[in-house]
Amino acid sequence: MKKNLADCMEMDAKEFEKTAEEIFAPMYPVLAEQIIEETGKIEGLCLDIGTGTGLLPIELAKRTKLVVYALDISEEMCKIACRNVLLSKFSGRIIVIKGDVHFLPFRDNFFDLVVSRGSFLFWRNQIEAFKEIYSCLLYTSPSPRDRTRYRMPSSA
Ligand SMILES: C[S@@+](CC[C@H](N)C(=O)[O-])C[C@H]1O[C@@H](n2cnc3c(N)ncnc32)[C@H](O)[C@@H]1O
Repeated sequence: MKKNLADCMEMDAKEFEKTAEEIFAPMYPVLAEQIIEETGKIEGLCLDIGTGTGLLPIELAKRTKLVVYALDISEEMCKIACRNVLLSKFSGRIIVIKGDVHFLPFRDNFFDLVVSRGSFLFWRNQIEAFKEIYSCLLYTSPSPRDRTRYRMPSSA
């Protein structure tokens, strides 16, 4: 029987956990620092899409007061993420949710920050996924620094 991507990711959860812990581990603190430096977001609500084993949310929680929703389509990944979050000191600020980026279960303008690492390429319809992301992301005017960096029109 033909398997869809979610099934494949489900089967690979244990293997990905090993890779995340043995190879990717040093990347998550660096990534968290970069996210904070780039966005300046240190409080409010954050969504990590395709959280995998939940290591990025843990590093974000260590460095900020953010409440992080850690969302993944794979039940198996969510179980591993839950375990990692419980073992960390941040179970009060990280909520693991099973869900699909194409059908985000949040109201509009809910999040101050949305992040994702290594998941984008697995999404079935990236345009639909980004529409969902934009809907649940709170719009704030770009800072003068963002305008310069990303060449935003002055009316943005
Ligand atoms: C390569 S792993 C990256 C995990 C994690 N972000 C990291 O950096 O360690 C990709 C993750 O995206 C998840 N994923 C794939 N398609 C998804 C979708 N449509 N919605 C939510 N998560 C998805 C997979 O289950 C998997 O955990």
